[in-house]
Amino acid sequence: MTDNSRPGEIVLTEDPGLLPPDAGLVYIGSIETPWDDRHACPRSGGRSNEICTIHVDGRFAEGLKSVESCSHLIILYWMHEARRDLVVQAPAFDSTTHGCFALRTPVRPNPVSLSVVKLISVDGATLTVRGLDCLNGTPLIDIKPYFPANDSVPDATVGWHGRRTHPERRSIDL
Ligand SMILES: C[S@@+](CC[C@H](N)C(=O)[O-])C[C@H]1O[C@@H](n2cnc3c(N)ncnc32)[C@H](O)[C@@H]1O
Repeated sequence: MTDNSRPGEIVLTEDPGLLPPDAGLVYIGSIETPWDDRHACPRSGGRSNEICTIHVDGRFAEGLKSVESCSHLIILYWMHEARRDLVVQAPAFDSTTHGCFALRTPVRPNPVSLSVVKLISVDGATLTVRGLDCLNGTPLIDIKPYFPANDSVPDATVGWHGRRTHPERRSIDL
């Protein structure tokens, strides 16, 4: 346990951010949002009405062909300010710890996050969207069309979330 970890949390002895990379990801752009402070960001993009701007790097702009026809997109982004070494976490909204892969926390070995956004407009390589929750300047990893028939599972459940002990505290609604 390090000085700033909570009881029951598990910190890796090796920071994944310092290991040799496997995937060779490239950032394909960046995300402009109203938030410069993590605590000001919404916990979940689905609960945000703020307009945000996705800037796709010109080198990849041709990949946006037909994107304007999509009503919703899945946006994948890299939570560049998140620590990567905390695999068991004690969220404020529960007295039980959970593994990072059971949480939507940005704190994970690869700090990849996603939101389903509503596409408002496309202007060249710039997308205006609603439904993000990341810091201004967060790197963009990928954009995919949201297919409701494949991507929506209305009866899905997250058992621990229904049993959380402090639902009144800041949490995401899953
Ligand atoms: C709980 S995560 C959810 C992310 C995404 N919607 C998901 O489910 O994968 C959202 C929180 O991550 C934090 N955050 C946002 N941008 C970040 C960044 N670039 N680096 C580190 N943390 C960030 C903020 O505290 C924000 O409220």
